[in-house]
Amino acid sequence: MSEAMSVLDRKQDEARPKSEDAFVRALLAKMSLEDKVGQLQQVDATGETISDELRDAVRAGKIGAIINQVDPQICEEFQRIALEEAPHGIPLLIGRDVIHGFKTVFPIPLGQAASFNPGLVEDCARVSAEEASATGVNWTFSPMIDISRDARWGRIAESFGEDPFLTATLGVSMIKGYQGEDLSDPSAIAACAKHFVGYGASESGRDYDTTNIPTNELHNVYLPPFKAAADAGVATFMTSFGDIDGIPASGNEYILKDILRESWRYDGLVVSDWDSVRQLSVHGLTDGDRNAAKEAAIAGVDMEMAGSAYADNLAALVKDGEVELSRVDELTENVLRLKFRLGLFDAPYARPDPAALKTPTEKLELAKRAALESIVLLENKEALLPLNSQSLERVAIIGPMSDQPYEQLGTWIFDGNETMSVTPLSAFKTSLSNRVEVDYVQTLETTRSHDSSKFGDAVESARKADVAIVFLGEESILSGEAHSRADIDLPGAQTRLLEQIKATGTPVVAVILAGRPLTLSKVIELSDAVLFAWHPGTMSGPAIYDLIFGHASPTGRLPVSFPKMVGQIPIYYNHKNSGRPASDAEIMHIDDIEVGAKQTSFGMTAFHLDAGFRPLFPFGFGLGYTEFSFDNLALDRSQMTDRETLTLDVKVTNTGQRPGTEIVQLYIRDLAASLTRPVRELKAFQRIHLQPGQCETVRFLLTAQDLAFHRRDKTFGAEPGKFQVWVGPNADANLAAEFELVEAMD
Ligand code: NOJ
Repeated sequence: MSEAMSVLDRKQDEARPKSEDAFVRALLAKMSLEDKVGQLQQVDATGETISDELRDAVRAGKIGAIINQVDPQICEEFQRIALEEAPHGIPLLIGRDVIHGFKTVFPIPLGQAASFNPGLVEDCARVSAEEASATGVNWTFSPMIDISRDARWGRIAESFGEDPFLTATLGVSMIKGYQGEDLSDPSAIAACAKHFVGYGASESGRDYDTTNIPTNELHNVYLPPFKAAADAGVATFMTSFGDIDGIPASGNEYILKDILRESWRYDGLVVSDWDSVRQLSVHGLTDGDRNAAKEAAIAGVDMEMAGSAYADNLAALVKDGEVELSRVDELTENVLRLKFRLGLFDAPYARPDPAALKTPTEKLELAKRAALESIVLLENKEALLPLNSQSLERVAIIGPMSDQPYEQLGTWIFDGNETMSVTPLSAFKTSLSNRVEVDYVQTLETTRSHDSSKFGDAVESARKADVAIVFLGEESILSGEAHSRADIDLPGAQTRLLEQIKATGTPVVAVILAGRPLTLSKVIELSDAVLFAWHPGTMSGPAIYDLIFGHASPTGRLPVSFPKMVGQIPIYYNHKNSGRPASDAEIMHIDDIEVGAKQTSFGMTAFHLDAGFRPLFPFGFGLGYTEFSFDNLALDRSQMTDRETLTLDVKVTNTGQRPGTEIVQLYIRDLAASLTRPVRELKAFQRIHLQPGQCETVRFLLTAQDLAFHRRDKTFGAEPGKFQVWVGPNADANLAAEFELVEAMD
């Protein structure tokens, strides 16, 4: 390494300017147009060796970044070639999709969101950065902060759900975890806010498909998490595959230039998504790679991932006067600046800092805590859970997700070490005393299987047991990129299996491991208790065991509404009121319509005849092993100006028999505004832990900033008028108050 450093030093000026700008400009001044274009290229470096072609390209300075290489020796060799053999000795960015863990796998991001715990999300990202940086990776393509209102979309698994505030909060935590205090720290990696913007709005949840996003929604729903990420100093942004009002994101000047660079003053790096520059022509915006490169460069894509539109055309576009050289300079500066910020010019090689690294035990404890906090208890009839292991003699473990070391990790875990996985079956076998017999029948080979030939064994096992714990759901392959579903019921014969287990009369605990919300009405009906575990990662088994046997209490809350049936989608809590909002009093059900009934004026509101208007479970919902009451919502004033702070106190009491944690959630509604506003918006949440009978006054502070939105006149701010506020355990909270925002007098 020291030898490489001296080579590098020879290639750089002896007394290298230390300030970022001066350094970047000095280096840029020495580079040819071709050298600059080289920096804008990211290539796929998958493989067990470096191909001659790739080696030559790095040597010739035609590559600024690689993706998909995590072998430490190969990463080091890539850097060595770039530093010692390429013009200017510019180090490479080494990118990898580290999405919810590297070797140690944490819950899928949607599961992490259910923790409503920003500190936890940050800690998980920190460990991911420590593990990934040790191989040479210095850049991850995470967090995905696309608002996701459609459970059919496979990539909802990678998101933080449907709410802009929760997504922004957790996105910022994840960024902090990856990047640490200082990006040049050896264990820091550059984060990437993706996919800018609106990717989650693909119609019908079909990945990559058409997106229709009104300007007001773009600014008030889809952009806020990205603004928060930019403000938090995220090192990079990635463009979306989708299009914004007819202009695909990778060629969209409005979002990349007007909003990101000019309005937000963002000075990090913008990378395209995989080949999305060339796809501008597939979309029909341009008529070939040359014009695609031109549009993307002018809009402000600094680096092209995987495609070669820039490499093949950008130099010629400059020479022909179609793209200004100054534009290419700006793009290159953004790349060099990131390399400078990562400290790569001083320390280009992986150099794990032992002091910063968590021990394997600490990592597993964190993975277990993350799994514990992500799991949501959806049903618990007659307080079946927690089970008392002392009173059990025989437990039936049934179902295709009981013992799947790989599948429990979830989507996007290229590097996840499945040999570290502890499955539910193994956790139950090791943790239950020898006195308790554990009888396992997988029954279905996969969650998609329709083969019911083993149902008899499962039924027999359930019949003999004191309790049947049934592990159902989806394998990891059923969610993630390009893995959308139109039907979000449990796949295969799983519901039929549950019916037969239920018929034995043995109490049934259903544990669902899945990458998305599923339509669970039947599961709720057929089970005594239901835990929704998402894909909980490496420590799935011990976390589920602890929850079922009461060594821990469930605290997860849904970061996305669960529909009753797929036809309700999109269904999300922060919708608009409409001119005819539905109410419980004025809906009718299809089964109640009389023979020969004619159209009546009853129930002329926004609902479905067969599904009503409510989801099965609202945003923010989750049960625990105790109960909480909310009362005495007190505001310190009924009017506030935009310079004042409103203080809200609410009394929360643990009214149950066990200690428990509650996520106290605060929602507001702007009753009349220049643009219609959502019926509720999450603005704050707090986590409290109370003993039985204990109460605590929880305090929230609101300022005009919390009431602000992108207004009709296209400015951002709050508007005077009345607001409603609710505090409670989920988006259906009914403890309410009102206040007014008034103009300041002077
Ligand atoms: C395509 C995905 O959309 C993006 O999220 C990912 O980071 C890149 N591929 C790189 O794998």
